[in-house]
Amino acid sequence: MSQALGVALLGAGTVGSGVLRILERHRERIEARAGGPLDVRWIAVRSLTKPRDLPTNARLTDDPLEAVHDPGVHVVIEVMGGEEPATHLIETALAQGKHVVTANKVVIARSGQRLLEAYPDRLHYEASVAGGIPIIKPLQECLIANRLDQVLGIVNGTTNYILSRMDQAGISFGEALAEAQAAGYAEADPTYDISGLDAAHKLVILAMLAFEAPFSLADVHVEGIGQLETTDLAYAREFGYTVKLLAVARREEAVELRVHPALLPREHPLAKVDGVTNAVFVEGDATGPLMFTGAGAGSLPTASSVVADLVEAARRLRSQGQEPNGPLFRQGRPRVRPPEEMVSPFYLRFRVVDRPGVLAQIASAFGRHQVSIESVIQRGRGHEPVDLVFITHPARVASLSQALEAIRALPVVHQVAACLRVERGWGHA
Ligand code: NAP
Ligand code: HSE
Repeated sequence: MSQALGVALLGAGTVGSGVLRILERHRERIEARAGGPLDVRWIAVRSLTKPRDLPTNARLTDDPLEAVHDPGVHVVIEVMGGEEPATHLIETALAQGKHVVTANKVVIARSGQRLLEAYPDRLHYEASVAGGIPIIKPLQECLIANRLDQVLGIVNGTTNYILSRMDQAGISFGEALAEAQAAGYAEADPTYDISGLDAAHKLVILAMLAFEAPFSLADVHVEGIGQLETTDLAYAREFGYTVKLLAVARREEAVELRVHPALLPREHPLAKVDGVTNAVFVEGDATGPLMFTGAGAGSLPTASSVVADLVEAARRLRSQGQEPNGPLFRQGRPRVRPPEEMVSPFYLRFRVVDRPGVLAQIASAFGRHQVSIESVIQRGRGHEPVDLVFITHPARVASLSQALEAIRALPVVHQVAACLRVERGWGHA
């Protein structure tokens, strides 16, 4: 049997403890597939005094660099989170010739291009997008025979959990968030999930892999779910839609990258993806539409992806890196469409005075700016102001913004209370 490979686990929280549990549960099979024993020599944590029940004899340290520098460590697993010191630790390990496995989408979205260009064979990041769902390897390897022009996904478990619970159990945003935090789905700072930023980081990674070109966070138009009201989920249902936080990457004559809450028709495949479940839809020119779905967060699902990468790293180390990865970025940077050029149907809710002629004034403002109305729900004869809700035909964002400016200025309009995109397409349907 080959010699043991030394492993340093940086982080023993939700994901790190899951890695240790999986290694304990399936050690024999995993080591057989890895070509020999795996020895977790170090566990780095922030607090050495926090009580922990970890199934390992590894040395605990609060100095992750000490673990990275250990010459007996061949693979560093970074599951601490955050941009720094994680990026520095990862880069130090790679520069020393070690393999790195990470679940950290912040590092990969922000520094992935540089790190992957320098170390294409030794950085593994399956767990960075969609937790337990294998999606990085399918995009990078299994779908290599395809041109991919679209990736559409629900890639944040926390927000999908919150929206599902608000919609189906009628609980408040705060209660649903507390449940997601207790289950270990949310980031250390949950505003990162709620604001759409977590999904935006994942979208950058998916777009880089799907379109084989470098992108950055600045290319992504991002809106979160913080402004959503339960009443909008209820109106969406009346129109036959459900609301999801979507991540969209599309390539036409320009690339469009956006993360935002969107109304999806109830029969859309992504509309049925509930709770912490994630789903990534891609369409290959050879395969046609494909949907990858499963647990997008949580201890064991995410650790499953980390351990798969650990096994891959061990195999590469033991085969002396005989399977080189080609360059990831085969394309130059394509033009990225700015938000005002994007086109979409919209859901709009206005708070208005309850008086004859209000609908006509709003419709006329839409008409003047080439925004065409598809359907309307008007609630009246209650306490003022009342809701007036529209779904538009596809409209350019720039035209819609001008129409909304004109509508906001109408004396009969109290407030533009909601403005959400409607996403109907999947595949070329
Ligand atoms: P977590 O539960 O907060 O655990 C973080 C661990 O890292 C803790 O053990 C913490 O130590 C340790 N740590 C943090 N900063 C450190 C530092 N500067 N030095 C030494 N140790 C440090 O986080 P998590 O949920 O496991 O997430 C870890 C990573 O996986 C993040 O990048 C996250 O985005 C990603 N991820 C998470 C999930 C999920 O479902 N949770 C899914 C996919 C990807 P203490 O224990 O002493 O606090
Ligand atoms: N906070 C993230 C989520 C963890 O809720 O999806 C998985 O990346």
